[in-house]
Amino acid sequence: MTNMLITIDGPAGAGKTSVSRELAKRLNCIYVDTGALYRGVALEVKQAGIDWEADAVLEPFLNRISLSFAMEGEDPVLTSSGKNISSLIRTPEISMLASAISARPCVRKALLGLQHAIAKNNDTVFEGRDMGTVVFPHARHKFFLFADLDTRALRRFKEKQAPEQDLVQVKEMMESRDANDAGREIAPLTPAKDAVLIDSTHISLEEVVQRILLEIHRD
Ligand code: C5P
Repeated sequence: MTNMLITIDGPAGAGKTSVSRELAKRLNCIYVDTGALYRGVALEVKQAGIDWEADAVLEPFLNRISLSFAMEGEDPVLTSSGKNISSLIRTPEISMLASAISARPCVRKALLGLQHAIAKNNDTVFEGRDMGTVVFPHARHKFFLFADLDTRALRRFKEKQAPEQDLVQVKEMMESRDANDAGREIAPLTPAKDAVLIDSTHISLEEVVQRILLEIHRD
């Protein structure tokens, strides 16, 4: 029997994380936040102070870092070589660096194997930007969540991940990250042709979850 594989893609603030975690709970799957992995790479690169724009520097560096993502009870935990770095990756600086670094082919390649290995051994809900298009093009259940920019920015602002930023700054950063993620050549943020598109602007988390469950159980 093949493992259950559900992909949830979309821009920041569309509700991917809340929806994916809830789905994983109800379907008894594990949940993987692939954005956290890109953030982990960004943090390691920042802390090491390497010249990440040079492949000759970045590639061997990627071979030396070892990231893993798991839920500990209700908490998502990202570790790098066994060290918990979860509380360090949610800053505006790391968001922007993750977005820049994730456009590099060697970074995407390095994380591809990790994502495939997780899917091989577990029933999984994966959230990210390219889950349905590149990482798991054959997944049976693909969803793309989106919402208008003002709504997404307000949601993120209310989470107070970056208390020093006002709503306008949160919105500007989100817009810039959307443009990077959708405009890059490799694995751009775009719905898979066979993904179910869900606009979460005016509907609740529970409604999104119900729509997804309906689609999954329809098959
Ligand atoms: O999901 P999150 O906002 O934490 O992701 C941080 C950044 O990581 C995104 O802006 C995007 O550039 C990158 N990312 C990606 N592919 C994924 C997940 C995230 O390129 N599958």
